[in-house]
Amino acid sequence: MTALANKRILLGITGGIAAYKCAELTRRLTEQGAEVRVVMTSSAQHFITPLTMQAVSGYPVASSLLNPAAEAGMGHIELAKWADLVLIAPATANFIGKFTAGIGDDLLTTLCLATPAPIALAPAMNQVMYQAPATQANLATLAQRDMLLWGPAAGAQACGDVGLGRMLDPLELLASVIDFFNPPVQTLADVNIMITAGPTREDIDPVRYISNHSSGKMGYALAVAAQQLGANVTLVSGPVNLTEPSHCRTVKVTSALEMQAAVMADISQQNIFIACAAVADFRPVSIAEQKIKKTSGNDGMTINLVKNPDIVASVAALADGPFTVGFAAETQDVAQYARDKMQRKNLAMIAANDVAKSGQGFNADVNSLSVFWPGGQQDIALASKSEIAMQLLQLISSHYQQAR
Ligand code: PMT
Repeated sequence: MTALANKRILLGITGGIAAYKCAELTRRLTEQGAEVRVVMTSSAQHFITPLTMQAVSGYPVASSLLNPAAEAGMGHIELAKWADLVLIAPATANFIGKFTAGIGDDLLTTLCLATPAPIALAPAMNQVMYQAPATQANLATLAQRDMLLWGPAAGAQACGDVGLGRMLDPLELLASVIDFFNPPVQTLADVNIMITAGPTREDIDPVRYISNHSSGKMGYALAVAAQQLGANVTLVSGPVNLTEPSHCRTVKVTSALEMQAAVMADISQQNIFIACAAVADFRPVSIAEQKIKKTSGNDGMTINLVKNPDIVASVAALADGPFTVGFAAETQDVAQYARDKMQRKNLAMIAANDVAKSGQGFNADVNSLSVFWPGGQQDIALASKSEIAMQLLQLISSHYQQAR
């Protein structure tokens, strides 16, 4: 049995360059047994033709609200009632704005107003448009209305910019649709989980800092997965360019000392602690009050560093502390270094990634892990960070239940 057998998906395509990915998305959905009907805005048709979408979906594409022939077939209200899920991909800033305001001035916006089905949006736009206060306010309103927001991802954009605003890839959207229809068993219902994510920044002077390449994607994916398993999630996040996951409490910090303070302030309430952040091991002994100037004749510079507190080790050392899981970012002898770290920091579990492998780990959309616990090990094969997060959380959940 395929994962989406008999599921009826109304795919709404709006006018962004990512529309070209909708042919593959439709093919992936239908491969899994879904019936896909496509509705396109007039702008979308500049990026991919209705004929292509008809060929891949197997049904005529609807695009006009006032088309007597189409209305005589499956009319727009019928189409709105037919769907089990409405997926808008790509969802442009313009569509998101109209949808938030409740405007119904074409077939797709009207369908969205008329449907009783859940609606998922895969935002895709230029990174500045995505960060624009109006877009962010609209997305926050849609999240409050329980609309599903899938993405966007960060990376190189068609316009040449780099940042947050890329539509999720068809395979990631497929995974979201499958998860939507097959929600995981809530094995962590009412469990309090705190997750650290992202890098820390250690100031040198008012304009410079020491940091690392962590994007926060792995930690944020863990927060979403934990929430899907029913946990109450507190996400302590270093500086990242990601949208705060809905239904989680997010505490934003910058430095390792701030992260430690945020973690310790609430750790007594937590059942599980997962340290995914790439915390800077050292910080400058002192922060210059003014920008450090280059002085003539001086080609070198020395910054004195002091060790930062080890946050995960301090949590693991607490009497009656939470079930504590660390991460290990290694470039060689992964298993040995990870096991040593687990023992030294007194962790219940450690998830090790080989960050020397290109295209995964730091600042990538995919990862693979080797997870260790006293007396055991399990590998989690290369997959999107969302899938890795769900598999890791399921493993943590079963060990946490055994340890109780
Ligand atoms: O953020 P992404 O771009 O998605 O990348 C994900 C990731 C590669 C950052 C993530 O998967 C990961 O490996 N996180 C841990 C990175 C790290 O700092 O590893 P480490 O081996 O240096 O630290 C070991 C453990 O101690 C980690 O759980 C870390 O959070 C913790 N630690 C380290 C130093 C410190 N002062 N306090 C800590 O709590």
